[in-house]
Amino acid sequence: MQAAGLEHTQELLTARLRSHLPGAQVELASLPRVPELRLFLLASDFCSATLGAEEIQAAMDYPAYWAFCWASGQVLARYVLDHPELVRGRTVLDFGCGSGVAGIAAALAGAARVIACDLDPDALVAARENARLNGVELQMVSDFWQGGAEAELILAADILYDRANMDWPSRFLRHAEAALLADSRIRNFREPGYRKVASRLGCTWPDLDEMDEFRKVNIYLGFT
Ligand SMILES: C[S@@+](CC[C@H](N)C(=O)[O-])C[C@H]1O[C@@H](n2cnc3c(N)ncnc32)[C@H](O)[C@@H]1O
Repeated sequence: MQAAGLEHTQELLTARLRSHLPGAQVELASLPRVPELRLFLLASDFCSATLGAEEIQAAMDYPAYWAFCWASGQVLARYVLDHPELVRGRTVLDFGCGSGVAGIAAALAGAARVIACDLDPDALVAARENARLNGVELQMVSDFWQGGAEAELILAADILYDRANMDWPSRFLRHAEAALLADSRIRNFREPGYRKVASRLGCTWPDLDEMDEFRKVNIYLGFT
């Protein structure tokens, strides 16, 4: 992406972020665990700034998940890049894509087609722009049912923070051959069809200074 394009995208995403989080800024970030990839994320100095009550409330009302690369997303992206055979030539769906980090890693690792799914329209814009930045293309859907049936492999990083999503892992295996789930929130994840294949330390970027327990990411591989 050329400098003018970078600036334009940064402005576009900053405007989206500021409509909910005044004063926030998007910047280009490199990921400590995935140096192959860059993303437009919330500027790191915003996290360390002292926020007023109004800003904290705004951040809670509109959690801009897409403006962070979550520990699980970063660890899953690393895992996919280190195991390209899992995605090579396949149709992959990144469920709850946020910034698009896992889907972008799948595309870079040789997936034939990557569908990025998120219910937040701003996340779909961010994932599209992040994909462009990294020289790959993702197909965007706002609903699993628009693309889920076509996916051979489903990736999902940090979606179980919301208990309403607890049924998705079993649903994935009814619709795709396999699923790779990365999570640091659920202590005893025991879903039929899934087994733990890796455990890695990671951190959300920009660093939210989360508790150590949320830095240990488990990766589960599920087969039908
Ligand atoms: C914590 S973020 C993780 C983003 C990204 N996977 C990562 O690891 O950086 C969770 C994302 O899942 C999306 N999400 C949550 N529930 C969803 C659902 N039922 N369908 C689609 N997207 C969902 C949210 O909008 C958010 O962007």
